Amino acid sequence: MASLCVGFVHASSHEAPGRINPQHWPQPSWPLAPDPTVEKRIDALLATMTLEEKVGQVVQGDIASITPDDVRKYRLGSILAGGGSDPGGRYNASPAEWLALADAFWEASMDTRGGGKAIPIIWGIDAMHGQSNVVGATLFPHNIGLGATRNPELLREIARITAIETRTTGMEWTFAPTVAVPQDDRWGRAYEGYSEDPALVASYAGVFVEGLQGKVGEAGFLDDHHVMTTVKHFLGDGGTDGGKDQGDTTVSEAELRDVHGAGYFPAIEAGAQSVMASFNSFHGEKMHGHRALLTDVLKDRMNFGGFVVGDWNGHGQIRGCSNTDCAKTYTAGLDMAMAPDSWKGMYESTLAHAKDGTLPIARLDDAVRRILRVKFRMGLFEKPKPSARALGGKFEMLGAPEHRAVARRAVRESLVLLKNQDHLLPLAPRQRVLVAGDGADNMEKQAGGWTLTWQGDGTQRADFPNADTIWDGLKAQVEAAGGSAELAVEGAYRTKPDVAVVVFGEEPYAEFQGDVPDLTLKGGKSGDLELIRKLKADGIPVVAVFLSGRPLWMNREINAADAFVAAWLPGSEGAGIADVLLRTPTGAIQHDFKGTLSFSWPRRADQYQNNVGQKGYDPQFAYGYGLTYASDGNLGALPEDPGIDLDARRTNMLFDRGVAPAGILLRLVGTDGKAVDVTHPSAATQDRAVVMTAVNTNVQEGARQFVFGGRGVVELHAAPSLDLTRETNGDALMIASVRVDRLPADADVSLAARCGDACQGDLPVRRALAELPAGKWARLGVPLKCLAAAGADMGRLEVPFALRGSPGVTVSLDHISVGTDYDVRVECSPH
Ligand code: BGC
Ligand code: BGC
Repeated sequence: MASLCVGFVHASSHEAPGRINPQHWPQPSWPLAPDPTVEKRIDALLATMTLEEKVGQVVQGDIASITPDDVRKYRLGSILAGGGSDPGGRYNASPAEWLALADAFWEASMDTRGGGKAIPIIWGIDAMHGQSNVVGATLFPHNIGLGATRNPELLREIARITAIETRTTGMEWTFAPTVAVPQDDRWGRAYEGYSEDPALVASYAGVFVEGLQGKVGEAGFLDDHHVMTTVKHFLGDGGTDGGKDQGDTTVSEAELRDVHGAGYFPAIEAGAQSVMASFNSFHGEKMHGHRALLTDVLKDRMNFGGFVVGDWNGHGQIRGCSNTDCAKTYTAGLDMAMAPDSWKGMYESTLAHAKDGTLPIARLDDAVRRILRVKFRMGLFEKPKPSARALGGKFEMLGAPEHRAVARRAVRESLVLLKNQDHLLPLAPRQRVLVAGDGADNMEKQAGGWTLTWQGDGTQRADFPNADTIWDGLKAQVEAAGGSAELAVEGAYRTKPDVAVVVFGEEPYAEFQGDVPDLTLKGGKSGDLELIRKLKADGIPVVAVFLSGRPLWMNREINAADAFVAAWLPGSEGAGIADVLLRTPTGAIQHDFKGTLSFSWPRRADQYQNNVGQKGYDPQFAYGYGLTYASDGNLGALPEDPGIDLDARRTNMLFDRGVAPAGILLRLVGTDGKAVDVTHPSAATQDRAVVMTAVNTNVQEGARQFVFGGRGVVELHAAPSLDLTRETNGDALMIASVRVDRLPADADVSLAARCGDACQGDLPVRRALAELPAGKWARLGVPLKCLAAAGADMGRLEVPFALRGSPGVTVSLDHISVGTDYDVRVECSPH
């Protein structure tokens, strides 16, 4: 592959900062020569297509909101399954159910009884680290871990296997690879990137595309053993200000190209069939409407010969557009809009725009041609239904032993050893090994986001039939060698061990829900440090294994432990950790450490933009760092100053175990409007319209009970005000962990979000509260979109939560946060 290194061409100072000049961009060559036979078929088909059918090709719906009958009627060209969308709405639906649904959608698209043309549908899915939406699939380490392997050929193999497993369940298209180059570790998608270094990302992008699609010009290219790829998210997703997901990228054109663009050049040369537009803006202009970048640069200058797909209602974020109406995204160059729940409105408005000329027919035809061209290249017009293709239904391939072996190797090669005092590692297996920490036997923490569910949470061990936890792997090898292993998550061992392995780290997350304000683990108060220190105080040597989607400030834990391993998000093969940590029974090294940092490791919690090659670069462990067993792994004491005030830290937790966290104030307001700021576990308004007391959960005084004697209000005030715009765009909800203690039949309860004088959104919630199990803790979800629709400006919430009750109502509150997991949801009410 030709190297496309370009020096920084600095834009002259009189140019506007967001200005794009296509001449400044390289011209990778598109490897597929125009195919006259295909072009003829496209011409012939296009000539017979109605305007309705053309519009159908450029709109993509999500399986949670579209049925095969809808496809039969509207002739949509594509569907997707978002991270939270599954057959029957069950995150652990069987592989057979996925395949049956794929058949049903395909059959609908090929059904010509209503007079429509047979154009095979394509189904896109986030096979991000393996076919990770499906039970039993091999789960590879997330990209950040693959970055540490520095092994492009291993990535080719991972991509090849991912394609095979994806095909067994009927999809022919993955929304991968992510070639983001994350520059701020606070970003919730940092782990989806291979590296902060564009050169490393570029060295993977082309081979990964080839692994998924096959090689252009060789047998197998885009055949039934491969899937088409999506290189994403174009462009600048990893460069937003403050590491905010879906934010604004305000770097120079040169940096946009040389850092964030690095993966696209080799991916295009490998023939990537689609590129996904990004949620972010470039200098205030949303990428979904950015004509200069989507059309002038990507298609015209960079010779991209596939189609551009949108991201989840990304078009709706363009000024002047909504989720259901946006001609501008197409005129800017998008070819297929991802309109998950909005497809019908998008279809209808786009049809109207095509009729009235707002969307020129030539542009619509070009988009349709690009989509059809891909379908022809894949030979889809000649293929039978998904289950009848080469790998359809071959579920024995999901988590096949030879696939898992590759994933296990990837785990071994991704581990980065940061400290190894007095050569504590590798451990002899024939001794008493304690395995502790809440990550030790925890598939969710080990697999991270985009695993069966969008956020990677809410699953059970039984959902992972083809997987080993880290504990499973250690136990098996220790016991086989004649040692003994004990699992004690909190460290309360029965027999004093010879050595302890403590596995801990981040809870799973995806997208904006993973954005954090600093690089502490849970605000620097996770409890894992105490666990390590306690074991050390007992005289036990400790190996710390850290699970995370980004480097975090760990100096205290590294100081406390004897050895420290960054294990990233390894996926299904937790046993790969034992392969490296343990010697053979006869004392030999099984596998040495190979991984080296692909993200610089911070020395303080505020070092989130600390990337190799930048001015003032001063990490704790530099890019490329990683010990082996031959290295001197001794470290002196690292500085323990976090660089931030750990007590003043702010998160999306608005109420935590009955207490308002930093930056939030709990206030009770009486019927008379007189307010009382809460400073103690019990409080009341003067008129006793609200009386608050502490109640116990599993934590003593872990919640607060509110008895309404009048039309009182329980409010959370945020100072400074909260900006929940991204969360609102992303379908998040206000989640209140609540216990309904008393709800009179005539109760009148509402929930409001306020944004200043005469700015508020108010929703009735009595009905939803009545659906919750009385007297039991459950999660009430209030869609942020509903609060916005009811009038709240989500960009400046002064009071994100205001619960108004009526006499006799009694509710208890434990946590209030922004999230996606709920038991009962409030519906948007027509106002
Ligand atoms: C979907 C995800 C998507 C997200 C966007 C979720 O409901 O399941 O696939 O990325 O919304 O905000
Ligand atoms: C994400 C994409 C993903 C899509 C479909 C979006 O929210 O940003 O990366 O491919 O959802 O799930």
